[in-house]
Amino acid sequence: MFGLTREGRAIQACSDRKSVLSEGTEAGREDGKGELGMTELALYGGPKAKSTPFGEGKRFGEEELAQLREALDQNTLFYWSGRKVKQLCAEFAALHEVPYCVAVSSGTAAIHVALASLGVGVGDEVITSPITDWGTIIGILYQGAVPVFADVDPNTYNLDPSSVVAKITSRTKIIIAVHLAGNPCDMDAIMEIAKGKGIRVIEDCAQSYLAEYKGRKVGTFGDFGCFSLNDFKHISTGDGGLVITRDSELARLAALYADKYYHRSGSGRDPEWLAPNYRMTELQGAVGIAQVKKLPGICQRRHELGDRITQGISGLPGIQPHRITADSRATYWFYMLRVNEQELGTRRHHFCEALRAEGIPCSEGYIPRPVYCYDVLTKAQVLHGAGFPISAGFHAAVPAYGEGLCPVAEEVLATAVRLPVSEFFTDRDVDEMVAAIRKVASYFASRRAAAVKERGA
Ligand SMILES: Cc1ncc(COP(=O)(O)O)c(C=O)c1O
Repeated sequence: MFGLTREGRAIQACSDRKSVLSEGTEAGREDGKGELGMTELALYGGPKAKSTPFGEGKRFGEEELAQLREALDQNTLFYWSGRKVKQLCAEFAALHEVPYCVAVSSGTAAIHVALASLGVGVGDEVITSPITDWGTIIGILYQGAVPVFADVDPNTYNLDPSSVVAKITSRTKIIIAVHLAGNPCDMDAIMEIAKGKGIRVIEDCAQSYLAEYKGRKVGTFGDFGCFSLNDFKHISTGDGGLVITRDSELARLAALYADKYYHRSGSGRDPEWLAPNYRMTELQGAVGIAQVKKLPGICQRRHELGDRITQGISGLPGIQPHRITADSRATYWFYMLRVNEQELGTRRHHFCEALRAEGIPCSEGYIPRPVYCYDVLTKAQVLHGAGFPISAGFHAAVPAYGEGLCPVAEEVLATAVRLPVSEFFTDRDVDEMVAAIRKVASYFASRRAAAVKERGA
């Protein structure tokens, strides 16, 4: 395992640690070389590794405008009456070679609709990842079900199948496999775990459009694939979501759960079951049609750029590249490496400062804490003023949410460095990003080696 193992923490705790982990500032030399004869860090006054601005581009243009005009010309923006949402669904389903797609108002709604359609209810347990957006969890709680967190793989950051197995109980109803950052989960293992136990699988593909596991697109393995069209994803309709499935009955239920359980083609109102209004409008549908046409190109480019970063930074001291699940094709929503501070010779925080000074935007970690540390769960603040429904006699006990639940996920978040990936980046952008990482990592590693040598001398 990479990163701060228990042993690593002990090393870190050693009193002599400060002597090899450099954090201070130092003056640059006039020749641009640091004290070890290496190119000085920009942080200390040396030349920047990234000298040109990152490539940018317009995500929305004439294609979206043309679709929007057609939507407005329909004289209705209601999905049931118009053609845009229907066309978006047909094209997205065809792209995934599945028969059904239902449009909703967000990725959160997509997961909620999938859970409701699979009959998840009070007291059921849903196993998922602690490194995800909170939107993965919201629907579980709204159904009165219990989120159960399995740990992740230290380098792919996706669910660790052995941890999933350890979390299964007689109440487990669903596994939500979150394909984080464009990287597919180990779907063979997850489908095998679910098989024969009556456990259904939902894939959270919000961050992983057109990613492939063993040549097959994510979202097509489980009972449902759920996608987000919020403004930060590979493609956007402002907000929105898509749910795909191969099962006609599940598709029928998803359409009902997305629209107040109204039978639009039949009797209309008088719903038999409680369901929210998660409808997508024709305006979003129109933008979505144009965006989906761009999706293969966007994903191909992100795939190339992300893999190019890995090639460029592999083998550096203290740097663990974002590992892609075996036999997979990632479409990088972001790129997340990990640092081993001891090997690197500096703190993650300082490493990020140095990278930013080189002209490379980056952030420490992803979400601030694993989602099981959020107040909603640790303080049982689910229903405003009314507490935690899952403790109200339907479930034996509220799970012990809080620090320590998934140690690997906690280590990942404490040691990860996130880099942006954009389809608008040029090869040069990524090469300069790689050069900056190499420069900074080599610099601190050399300083560390020199400090160790000096101490030994
Ligand atoms: C993995 C994951 N799941 C679910 C969601 C929720 O999507 P939305 O913001 O569209 O509700 C997101 C959005 O950030 C996400 O990244």
